[in-house]
Amino acid sequence: MRVAVLNGVNLDVVGRRDPELYGGLNIRELESRIFEWGMELELNVTCRQTNNEGEYVDWCHDALDWAGGVIVNPGAWSHYSYAIRDAIELFKVPVVEVHLSNIEEREEWRRHSVIADLAAKRILGKGPEGYKEALEWLAKQ
Ligand code: DQA
Repeated sequence: MRVAVLNGVNLDVVGRRDPELYGGLNIRELESRIFEWGMELELNVTCRQTNNEGEYVDWCHDALDWAGGVIVNPGAWSHYSYAIRDAIELFKVPVVEVHLSNIEEREEWRRHSVIADLAAKRILGKGPEGYKEALEWLAKQ
């Protein structure tokens, strides 16, 4: 199965953000781990990260043509971007929403995700391992 992992805004600098919340890996390390976990599960994983909302939407559209499962972490866009919500809503394949930190136990404005109801599964607050859990879940579908 081909899996698209789409990381959004500010995840390029995740290694510089609070390691207690985000796990301390930089984006290259994070993407390498995700790729290796995917290999172990015989999943063909493509990771992408952008700080451009339109590009994120374009990558969702692109993945419509080939992904058998999708993992999304749109970063702060998760809390307010209806453009990204509309793009994610197009997927007919399972979508897993991953957040490194537990957004439900943080500031009020982070507790709401506009994509939550579109996700077949949500994984919050498990750091980089959350992506592993997401891949394992997709591999079983
Ligand atoms: C995040 C949580 C968001 O609230 C935040 O804006 C991020 C990262 C996470 O993975 O924990 O950039 O999506």
